[in-house]
Amino acid sequence: MSQLSSRHLLGIKDITAEDIQLIFETADNFKEVLNRPIKKVPSLRDITIANIFFENSTRTKLSFELAEKRLSADVVNFSSSNSSVKKGETLIDTVNNILSMKVDMVVMRHSSPGAPHFLSRNIKANIVNAGDGTHEHPTQALLDAFSIREKLGDVAGKKVAIIGDILHSRVALSNIFCLQKLGAEVMVCGPITLLPKHITSLGVKVEYDIQKALEWCDVANILRIQLERQQIKYFPSLREYSLFYGVNKKMLDRLDKEIVIMHPGPINRGVELNSDVADSEHSIILNQVENGVAIRMAVLYLLAGVR
Ligand code: CP
Repeated sequence: MSQLSSRHLLGIKDITAEDIQLIFETADNFKEVLNRPIKKVPSLRDITIANIFFENSTRTKLSFELAEKRLSADVVNFSSSNSSVKKGETLIDTVNNILSMKVDMVVMRHSSPGAPHFLSRNIKANIVNAGDGTHEHPTQALLDAFSIREKLGDVAGKKVAIIGDILHSRVALSNIFCLQKLGAEVMVCGPITLLPKHITSLGVKVEYDIQKALEWCDVANILRIQLERQQIKYFPSLREYSLFYGVNKKMLDRLDKEIVIMHPGPINRGVELNSDVADSEHSIILNQVENGVAIRMAVLYLLAGVR
């Protein structure tokens, strides 16, 4: 197979294990390109891509823009904070105006779950979901699984614990779908108030004791507390959260095994993760960021093939 089964990347739920393997094999090639003195290929010459971000981003936005430029695409950037959205323009009007300037692909981040799915039903361009509210963040899950594969040789058979604010996390949901499609076992761990009620219906293990979760897993993916999405108090204070669920070096020293530490960023140092772990030899956090460019090059290149 050399083509994706879908012309959009809206979520990991909608793609197959074969699609994911194809993205990884393509990303392997692009990673090799990124290590050359000349890091650019002409693959998307004559393709115009709009990055439209209705929510803040550092990693995802920069990574997509770099991926697009490495593929020689023409790139335009839109950020809602300094646009006519502030004057009351609707999402579909904003996007149709951008598309009338002959844009071929749209990379979109939006605070509403389903916003990229809505767009995909209403416009002709390929859509890549760069994070839709608390729903999915497919390229983050792909780069996370790719980084596990790079570090441990394979994803199949590995035990991955996703720790923290699962309730508000699009990274958690996309990771669960991606890791399971690739044959990994997944556990979620956090305070009961930050775990969705019916999470076991996704086939994941649930653990409330973080030390037990660390003992069980090969890889711990630590998530940020998403205060910006929390309308009520889910725990008494950040200090208390950190006391019960913050990962520090002492906890890793108690383990009688190797463990890989991941975090999608941005990190709240001293809350969910201490610097003595984030910057330690266990951490592959910056490898995740590096791999993000190759994964996004692969996704854009492959989607351009199903236009
Ligand atoms: N991991 C991630 O999505 O980071 P940004 O919000 O900075 O893009």
